[in-house]
Amino acid sequence: MEKELVKFLDTIICSDCVEVLSEFPKNCIDLTLTSPPYDALRDYNDFSFDFKKIASQLYRVTKKGGVVVWVIGDSTINGSETGVSFRQALYFKELGFALHDTMIYQKSGFAYPSTKRYHQIFEYMFIFSKGRPKSFNPIKDKPNKTQYTFSKKRRKKDGSMTHENDTSRIEVSPFGMRTNIWKYTTGRGNSTKDKIAFAHPAIFPEKLCEDHIKSWTNPEEVVLDPLMGSGTTIKVAKLLKRHFIGIDISEEYCKIARERMKLA
Ligand SMILES: C[S@@+](CC[C@H](N)C(=O)[O-])C[C@H]1O[C@@H](n2cnc3c(N)ncnc32)[C@H](O)[C@@H]1O
Repeated sequence: MEKELVKFLDTIICSDCVEVLSEFPKNCIDLTLTSPPYDALRDYNDFSFDFKKIASQLYRVTKKGGVVVWVIGDSTINGSETGVSFRQALYFKELGFALHDTMIYQKSGFAYPSTKRYHQIFEYMFIFSKGRPKSFNPIKDKPNKTQYTFSKKRRKKDGSMTHENDTSRIEVSPFGMRTNIWKYTTGRGNSTKDKIAFAHPAIFPEKLCEDHIKSWTNPEEVVLDPLMGSGTTIKVAKLLKRHFIGIDISEEYCKIARERMKLA
């Protein structure tokens, strides 16, 4: 662990994340799991948000093989989706990240019903990696439709069988790796049991954090949320025995996060 990082470990820092990240050594973070304030969709007390500077710092501090999960949706302005999500994704690529995967976070409900288009129920989860991800622990919870065993025997070109006397069979496990569309029941009482968290307008479901942290890191590694909000990422990181660093510019949200950490 880099000496200069130790003082930041397992802390919540109330400040502009660009300033804080610029004090980190380079190549020190295993996973960033975060969600930016997109398109001024919600009012985060009018704090400034300099996307390009944040993205550059994230590239600098991410370890080789480390991952950034950037959760974002687009708002619709004057009848058109802004496309900010895609522009940001391409900027991360320009910085040198690989766009490892474009995943979907599907919600159980929608905020703004529309009569002009289909109901909007998802956000993107862009998975950026600095080189190939060094850890991937896939979640295997997708039930396999048929659970069967099959013989190891195969017919060779000449018609005879391989493994002539082999009576053993290969078993198909009841669960396989899930797809890259992740569905969560969202909203009060579902995203988290912490009532205090709902004072923040845009919280992650805790399960989403659990699934990403388990997928891309191992215990003792460092999980960062530079736009921490109510602190969902860092709460779950702590529960999963990872080191965490949470940053938010709003004292109000840092207070919520500190309260939630007492429950972890
Ligand atoms: C979409 S919210 C994050 C919500 C979070 N995922 C959760 O589960 O609660 C984005 C957060 O970024 C914070 N923010 C905006 N600009 C910031 C900056 N420059 N530095 C640090 N935090 C900032 C806002 O205060 C807001 O809480």
